[in-house]
Order: sequence, then C-alpha cells, then structure tokens
Amino acid sequence: MHSIHDALTWRFATHAFDTAKKVSDTDIDAIAEAGNLMPTAYGLQPFRIISIADDAKKAKLLEATYGQTHYVENSHLFVLAIRTDIDAAMISEYARRIETTRGFSEGSASAFEDMMLGDITNRPQDSLPAWATKQAYLALGGMIAEASLRGIDSHVAEGFMPDAYDEMLGLREKNLHTVVIMAVGYRAASPLDEQRKSAVKVRVPKEEMHIKL
Ligand SMILES: Cc1cc2nc3c(=O)[nH]c(=O)nc-3n(C[C@H](O)[C@H](O)[C@H](O)COP(=O)(O)O)c2cc1C
Repeated sequence: MHSIHDALTWRFATHAFDTAKKVSDTDIDAIAEAGNLMPTAYGLQPFRIISIADDAKKAKLLEATYGQTHYVENSHLFVLAIRTDIDAAMISEYARRIETTRGFSEGSASAFEDMMLGDITNRPQDSLPAWATKQAYLALGGMIAEASLRGIDSHVAEGFMPDAYDEMLGLREKNLHTVVIMAVGYRAASPLDEQRKSAVKVRVPKEEMHIKL
C-alpha cells in the first residue's frame, strides 16, 4: 500500500480475525507511536494508549463489551483512555518537557504554560472530558491509518462499558478513563458472510461529502 487512500480503501471493520496470527511487537509499537505523533490542541495529549496482548485478559472484557467477540478474539486490543487529571501539574509537566526536549532554558515555556492554564481553568470543568476525548480520537485516526498501511486489520468500538473497563484494567488509579477501543489483527482467511458484506464500503458520495464553495 502506497498511500493512506489505498490503505483506507483496503481496510474494513473486521468481524473475524485469525486468532492464530499475531501482530508483531514492532507493528504494535508503530501503531501506538502513530497515535502519539498525531497533533493535539496545545500538544497537550490528554490521553494514553494502552495495548493488551494477553488473550485471558481480553476474554475478561467480553461482557463489558456487550459480548462482541471481535474485540476479544483478535491479536491485540488497543484502549484509548483520557486523563482525568487535566490540571496545573499536568500542564507544568508538559511545559517542562517542551523546555528539556527543545533545549530551551528553564522557565522559558512559562508564558505558554500560563496561557494554557488560564484557558483550561476558565473552561467549565465538566467540558474537559469531551475536549480530551476529541484529542484521543485524533490519535485513533492516526492509529487506524498506520495499521491499515501495514496491512493490519482493525475494528473500532464505542459499544462497551467504559467504567467496567476502567475497573478491570486498573485505569482509575492511573487517572485514566476509557473512551474508545480498537481491536487489531489479521482478517480470517475465510471471512464470514457478514464480513464479506461489510468489506464493501458504504460512504456518502464524494461530491456530496466534499462541499466545494
Ligand atoms: C467510533 C466508532 C465506534 C464504533 N463502534 C462499534 C461498535 O461498538 N461495534 C461494532 O461492531 N462496530 C463499531 N464500529 C464500526 C463501524 O460500524 C464501522 O467502522 C462503520 O460501519 C464503517 O464501516 P468500515 O469500517 O467497514 O468502513 C465503530 C466505529 C467507529 C469509528
């Protein structure tokens, strides 16, 4: 595959993965890193990317995924979780990272830090999870594209119980809250009828989608 366009044309929401075929650690790391490299507002990245390889650990999540087996029977399950501690300490940590990463003097990112802090503390605090979720979905988009470019199938879900995921994966104590998940693996060689049908893209006609003014 030479382009994201080709990769996205090839991919589809895979229902049946070949559970014997595992995605390599290198590919899993690259998919997560694509999520890490995606841009976010202020560059603040108020989320984390978790991957689960262990089949037993995934199996425990089946009920909390409303029995949807494709999120459990695959190679790996990615869980994207937003930070619940979007606060002064988190923003300060980011400002210091800018300084050390770019070789700036200590405190040189303070004006930027104050600006971010002012913006974030002035927002209704109950709007922060929705804002963080938007940033996490940007990462998700990059991860879908990276997986597809590597010939790796995926299936995203919002249909699961976020609180149960947080509980079972111990995310609450890490100040994280699950917002979306993505199964990855390789499509089964003999796709189910349902899978064959879902491989056919249903999209808004491009001249309707792309409004040229
Ligand atoms: C944010 C998001 C949430 C989704 N949630 C579910 C889900 O809970 N269960 C499911 O079977 N598919 C889910 N899907 C898969 C979509 O139904 C599927 O991607 C869509 O119909 C387009 O088909 P395609 O991916 O084959 O192009 C989800 C996809 C996205 C992007």
